[in-house]
Amino acid sequence: MIKKLYDSSYLDTLQVYFDRTKQHSYKLLDPRPGDVLVDIGCGNGDDALVLAQSGATVIGVDHDPLYVAIANAKDKPENISFICSEAHDLPLESGSVDKVHFERVFQHLPDHPAVMKEVARILKPGGQVQITDSDFLSISFFIEDKELERKVVDAIAFTMVPNAYKVRQIPYLLPGFGFKVLSFEVHNYLMDDYAFADYVIRIDGIVKGLVEKGIVSAKEFETWEKHKAGHFKMSFNVLIYNVVKE
Ligand SMILES: C[S@@+](CC[C@H](N)C(=O)[O-])C[C@H]1O[C@@H](n2cnc3c(N)ncnc32)[C@H](O)[C@@H]1O
Repeated sequence: MIKKLYDSSYLDTLQVYFDRTKQHSYKLLDPRPGDVLVDIGCGNGDDALVLAQSGATVIGVDHDPLYVAIANAKDKPENISFICSEAHDLPLESGSVDKVHFERVFQHLPDHPAVMKEVARILKPGGQVQITDSDFLSISFFIEDKELERKVVDAIAFTMVPNAYKVRQIPYLLPGFGFKVLSFEVHNYLMDDYAFADYVIRIDGIVKGLVEKGIVSAKEFETWEKHKAGHFKMSFNVLIYNVVKE
């Protein structure tokens, strides 16, 4: 049973919110007719559908059968298919793929090396990989109490999404699997609507959980509630790694 932190409508909302980064990432990946492109962790299939407009053969992969069904039910051209599979065990031939795309998937993977090994297997030499992910360790709430901020950020990056902190390790792991990092970009996002930030990151639940565990004191909780009701701002970065198989 897959533990879910979000649903399909959440992915639709973020598809719009992250449009700036997504449009840029499609350009960087530069799919062309003749390319075989795999979108791993494709969710609702919307990135795969855009990438398929290039004429490339696109395979969207997700381990959640519900998302595969949602993606498959969409109006789609013949050069796209969606399959249900785990990222570390893909039903694709070795050396058969030109480009691999991951968007906000690595934060959910318990075993990054296993997936990198599998991606190295399916890619042709010179094949490209694009890994886009939220860097939750970069969250800033612009709050004076730095210790309180650290507690909330760490709970997001280490507990709520237990593998989220590992997205920082990606560039250091990739060379061990025969990949070279071509470029690394940081896109900053700023939220000033608490309700939206809470919808995206589930901050209320995290802070309440920290209070219940005695990690956040009653006084710190009061500080947090005041901050929420004041000039709330939350900034965080989205990272894009563009990589080639040597
Ligand atoms: C945050 S969603 C992002 C979906 C999509 N890439 C997007 O940008 O909207 C992460 C997706 O990765 C899928 N996923 C997580 N772990 C996976 C794994 N080990 N193998 C395949 N898919 C996985 C989830 O089911 C989910 O659809």
